[in-house]
Amino acid sequence: MEVNEAIKQKYGEAARRVSSGEGLPADCCAGTSCCSGSAAASCDPITSDLYDESQAGEIPDAALKASLGCGNPTALAKLNPGETVLDLGSGGGIDVLLSARRVGVTGKVYGLDMTDEMLALAEENRRRAGVENATFLKGEIEAIPLPDSSVDVIISNCVINLSGDKDRVFREAFRVLKPGGRLAVSDVVVRGDVPKEISCNVELWIGCVAGALKDSEYTEKLGAAGFSEIEIEPTRVYDIEDARAFLSGLGLDVDVIAPQVSGRFISAFIRATKPDIPRDSVPSRGGSAWTSAEGTSPTDAC
Ligand SMILES: C[S@@+](CC[C@H](N)C(=O)[O-])C[C@H]1O[C@@H](n2cnc3c(N)ncnc32)[C@H](O)[C@@H]1O
Repeated sequence: MEVNEAIKQKYGEAARRVSSGEGLPADCCAGTSCCSGSAAASCDPITSDLYDESQAGEIPDAALKASLGCGNPTALAKLNPGETVLDLGSGGGIDVLLSARRVGVTGKVYGLDMTDEMLALAEENRRRAGVENATFLKGEIEAIPLPDSSVDVIISNCVINLSGDKDRVFREAFRVLKPGGRLAVSDVVVRGDVPKEISCNVELWIGCVAGALKDSEYTEKLGAAGFSEIEIEPTRVYDIEDARAFLSGLGLDVDVIAPQVSGRFISAFIRATKPDIPRDSVPSRGGSAWTSAEGTSPTDAC
């Protein structure tokens, strides 16, 4: 729960700064080098340059400036008019607003986030964009406040890595998806092992790095939740200079650790499908409050 509180504080502060025009803090998602918003995030190895000009033109500047993702799920996911979409950890609302245009007036998009300031920023962005078919919900991705089998597509952008109970997130995603529904998320993923100095660092967990699953674990956990047709497609590979950028300022020996993780952290687009035929062995577990004792966190692992 301490990690969740730290996440709320960090992303609450990020939202406050975007709302006041100050720009994102220096230690938001991806570590220490992010400056302000998508344009200024060109100095950030993870959040920089994710959206092209045509997408940027579709949304308010404040939504783009609050972008803290590590990919562009709406560009990679297939979204059809009339579909219902859910964005896990919707932040300032960028992917919700882009999806809302794609599913059209007969479709519906929900953004779910646990941080009040992000929800307020997202709602303001929705209002400015004049989007009517989107609703922001307060809640945790480990206990999604939507009924079983109610969503066609789940998207998410750099949020699942923050969860201390990823098994539960995947079970919840499976529960709310309709049979045949699709999961299409961007996330940070690890290839191989990383030093304990990284996996045990709370700042790096909150910065979207330390909580990242290995690619094999991602596949295993999605499969255990009931998903099929699981694919992990790398979209960005972080080299030694990127590793230096997200490790600096944390009191770590960057010269020693950066070479050990060069090429191991990637951003990836992860696709999976809820099969049409229900699996009896997958229990539905919606609703109850998340307890960190069930899951993992930097402290459990160290
Ligand atoms: C790295 S930001 C990404 C925001 C957005 N997806 C984007 O691309 O800009 C993470 C967001 O997820 C939210 N978040 C993190 N953990 C969460 C959880 N367990 N439940 C709900 N929201 C969560 C944070 O409040 C924050 O707004």
